Amino acid sequence: MKRVFITGAQGQLGLAIIELLKDKQEYELYLTDSRPDLEGIIKMLDITDEASVKSEILSFYPDIIINCAAMTAVDLCETEKERAYAINALGPKYIAKAANSIGAKLIHISTDYVYDGQAQTPYTEEAVPNPISVYGSTKLVGDKFVMDYCPKASIIHTSGVYGEGKNFVRTMLRLADEDRKIRVVSDQIVTPTSSMELARVIVYLMETDSHGKYHATCEGSTNWYEFALKIFKIAGKEPSVEAISTSEYPTPAKRPMYSVLDNKKLREVHGYTMKKWEDALEEYLRRI
Ligand SMILES: NC(=O)c1ccc[n+]([C@@H]2O[C@H](COP(=O)([O-])OP(=O)(O)OC[C@H]3O[C@@H](n4cnc5c(N)ncnc54)[C@H](OP(=O)(O)O)[C@@H]3O)[C@@H](O)[C@H]2O)c1
Repeated sequence: MKRVFITGAQGQLGLAIIELLKDKQEYELYLTDSRPDLEGIIKMLDITDEASVKSEILSFYPDIIINCAAMTAVDLCETEKERAYAINALGPKYIAKAANSIGAKLIHISTDYVYDGQAQTPYTEEAVPNPISVYGSTKLVGDKFVMDYCPKASIIHTSGVYGEGKNFVRTMLRLADEDRKIRVVSDQIVTPTSSMELARVIVYLMETDSHGKYHATCEGSTNWYEFALKIFKIAGKEPSVEAISTSEYPTPAKRPMYSVLDNKKLREVHGYTMKKWEDALEEYLRRI
């Protein structure tokens, strides 16, 4: 039996990974997050507390560690820079040190926001990062710490994640139910990725000798406006939706204008293809 230690277990990705692993006899799970759950299944672990990270990991002695914990509130990161650095950069460093000290396989999750969005073709794993937000910069420092302190780790860059919790899909459905006029930016190109589809890749990579950087998003690309239209079409809703430009919707953090990742390494090294974003969205909307 393999021992799997998960941080950020109550987040969108953490919950999807648990869904995939919870009934598998071959894994024993140790689940942690910044908040414990009511049943006592998910234990409290603040990844910015180095001593606790070390003692929890050493006492469970996992074969595999999956770090899903992060400060993902992109705009809040701009005003709470120190907290963002502690969670997105220092936390991964502490986890990487502990993982390396016991030879555990570490899978760390990162983001498309490490790139500046100036490209016109999908970013491969060889592309040079150049973050334009505090969230992106702190995640990039976290990635570097992970590689420095645990050189065999796998770092998975993904984008536009939706699953259980607050996300774009749920916000659109809520606004449609409230019969609100909806305005959505149409000039930022993205690839929406369901947390379940991402969890499947992670569970697959857990059992391989994966290491280094991976891009893992659903296939294809769209813009947020078209994404919203697709959500409404599949959900059978017909709210009034207006396409707007980024300049009409100012936010504290800058977003990359073109944020499409090429899953080159997954495809070429592992022969692994993720679902098209439209198919993953249909699967998600059928489930909720
Ligand atoms: N969401 C996206 O669109 C997106 C896009 C690209 C990459 N990613 C990356 O994918 C990964 C998973 O994202 P997600 O969407 O599952 O995020 P999420 O739903 O925000 O989950 C993150 C989890 O980490 C927890 N956390 C925050 N601070 C912590 C701390 N100090 N110690 C322990 N846990 C802490 C959060 O708890 P609280 O709720 O209590 O803060 C939350 O449960 C992250 O690495 C993220 O950067 C996400």
